[in-house]
Amino acid sequence: MYNLSQSVTWKKLQQLAQSSADDRISDAFVKNPKRFEQMSLRLDGLFLDYSKNLLSEEVLTSLLELAEHSPLRQRRAQMFSGDIVNITEQRPVLHTALRNRSNDPVKVDGEDVMPEVRASLEKLKVFTDEVRDGSWLGHTGKKITDVVNIGIGGSDLGPNMVCRALLEQRHERLRVHFVSNVDGLHVTKVLNSLNPETTLFIISTKTFSTQETLLNANSSKTWFLKQASEQDVAKHFVAVSTNQEAAMAFGIKQENIFGFWDWVGGRYSLWSSIGLPIALSIGYEGFIELLEGAYEMDQHFINAPLEKNMPVLMALIGIWYINFLGAETQAVIPYDQALHQLPAFLQQLDMESNGKSVDVDGRLLDYKTGPIVWGQTGSNGQHAFFQLLHQGNRFVPVDFIATLNVGGNNTDHHFALLTNMLAQANAFMIGDQGNDTQAHVNCPGNRPSNVLLLDEMTPRNLGALIALYEHKVFVQGAIWNINSFDQWGVQLGKRLATEISSDIKSKSADFDPSTQGLMNLIKEHIS
Ligand code: F6P
Repeated sequence: MYNLSQSVTWKKLQQLAQSSADDRISDAFVKNPKRFEQMSLRLDGLFLDYSKNLLSEEVLTSLLELAEHSPLRQRRAQMFSGDIVNITEQRPVLHTALRNRSNDPVKVDGEDVMPEVRASLEKLKVFTDEVRDGSWLGHTGKKITDVVNIGIGGSDLGPNMVCRALLEQRHERLRVHFVSNVDGLHVTKVLNSLNPETTLFIISTKTFSTQETLLNANSSKTWFLKQASEQDVAKHFVAVSTNQEAAMAFGIKQENIFGFWDWVGGRYSLWSSIGLPIALSIGYEGFIELLEGAYEMDQHFINAPLEKNMPVLMALIGIWYINFLGAETQAVIPYDQALHQLPAFLQQLDMESNGKSVDVDGRLLDYKTGPIVWGQTGSNGQHAFFQLLHQGNRFVPVDFIATLNVGGNNTDHHFALLTNMLAQANAFMIGDQGNDTQAHVNCPGNRPSNVLLLDEMTPRNLGALIALYEHKVFVQGAIWNINSFDQWGVQLGKRLATEISSDIKSKSADFDPSTQGLMNLIKEHIS
């Protein structure tokens, strides 16, 4: 039976963590002048430098052994071939099928799903072409100028992040807005800036049962119907969901429902019709390029030997830090304003996937799993939390991400951005311990980081970057032997929200004194 923390390799890594405690990253470059060349990888438009990590050859060899002795290879083969990988929901996990650019079939219950995947893409193409070329008109005969995506979690974060990252490539007439929070300020702020005659709403919800999304959708429909009639809804509301019945009950015409499948997890769904806002913004061809970039990373993940496998290496470095060097968090710091939404996207991808404490057999784990993922753009972070990263007494691994070529725009700014990033990564590593008399000035250094560089911000390179992190999360989950594809932890809060809201109205008292006291305060302020 697979027992990770009792394995010989695990014990060896524990010993190595002790014996390498005083090793310094900068010394490793002295010992091996070829360290940068040997610990960096290029895949098409993506470059990973993982040489500034607390990682000796011996540690890396043991980590690779850990991967070899884990369910990784088997789980990877199962995922790509459509087996039931999400066992608690008895579902395959096939976001990779959505971007399968080969002619190979992908079977679910013996049926090739690729024909329906292609049909879904064709439907997306026809619709997005019509909206973009102006042949899709609103109820008063005007072209669409604004798209409002109403969704939350995986029905918001992925499309939102990609649209922001590729904003330079957006259609000149179309502005894409995202409404997610149930806080009425969010939807009101967006609607106040819009003309209902030229606005298209996309109700994006896999289940079509998420409270926030339904409330925002109904408020948007109410806003629309103040200046239009029910039969005009069809020209201004479409839905993306696996729940066609509920979408039609809301009033969406069947032909305006873009479906997808239960074998696509919410946080892995931007490659499906959930990516509709992306295709509207950058065009269908751009959306296909995004898929192609992810497909290239899929092929790399499947075919590259583990020691030259980008997602595997990033996953193993993370496991070394989390399980042997005590890291509680993982910082993601894009030195790229276009990627300012990436940390939020990666929070759901990583923490909703690997925030688990039992293994696939329901056994309580005796080792840590998913880290707390956080981050903000650089250079802003330098003026917010880098003090802790330089002089705090916590161990925080950092992923720096940047784009090398911004097409001749803002070259002075871009040069400053990239040099700041290099300086910070270097400072984390070398520190500054020259002050014997003024300890408060010293920076201990020896703080690791990865640097990921995109040649340029294109759909293809962005697709590869996102798939890289998807597979990194997958590899860690496979080695930790957890189910990275369910999210039972979010159900309790949803249920209690329903109970509390109905109890407040019915004045019953079934809760603890704190909750009850707060409910009473709310009752005083909400009529
Ligand atoms: O956070 C829980 C969750 O189910 C996510 O997994 C999902 O992306 C989000 O809520 C939204 O769900 P839906 O797309 O069904 O509205």
